[in-house]
Amino acid sequence: MGRLNIAVLISGSGTNLQALIDAVNRGKVNGSIRLVISNNKEAFGLKRAEKNSIKNLYIDPQKYTTEEYDLEIIKECKAEEIDLIVLAGYLKILSKEILLKYKNKIINIHPSLIPSFAGKNYYGIKVHKKAVEYGVKVSGATTHFVDEEPDGGPIIIQETVDVNFEDTAELLQKKVLEVEHKILSETVSLYCDGKLEVIGRKVKINK
Ligand code: GRF
Repeated sequence: MGRLNIAVLISGSGTNLQALIDAVNRGKVNGSIRLVISNNKEAFGLKRAEKNSIKNLYIDPQKYTTEEYDLEIIKECKAEEIDLIVLAGYLKILSKEILLKYKNKIINIHPSLIPSFAGKNYYGIKVHKKAVEYGVKVSGATTHFVDEEPDGGPIIIQETVDVNFEDTAELLQKKVLEVEHKILSETVSLYCDGKLEVIGRKVKINK
């Protein structure tokens, strides 16, 4: 299978993007990150892309409606012949247009075991605050294909972390972030090797 072209959408620090860049550089992913797009001008992830000579763009959300914004993303992805879009801490909801055009070609990483602590308004430290408050004994991270339901698409990989009684939301966030970096790279690598098969709501991993 030829190397796939990957676009990564970010909104923040970009540690998941960095994990993916590192995995590609170590030869663990049969793909190339060709494009990074952020809806946040200050996203440190843009600097990470620049440092790795990856084309990176800030697209100002104030200038467009959601639909127009996603048409801009589609335009940029077409220009770079993108095969896979990865949402790595990307906080905007995608419009129907891009979901249709890239059906089962958009992967998201979420910092909980979906469906727990997931969906509209569940992002960042809030996810971990809710998990700690609830008193769960395990949490973790999930990669999934993106569909119209926020955090609702077919699950690809999940990995757990233990939640101890004294854990704060910040400590849990730190533990989960390490797992995110691991499973996101694994997920993208499996995708680039054509080993993921979506059957209804489920994903079969053909190792
Ligand atoms: C991560 O926790 C990710 O799961 C969530 O937003 C955070 C982004 O972190 N969607 P980073 O920007 O990749 O460091």
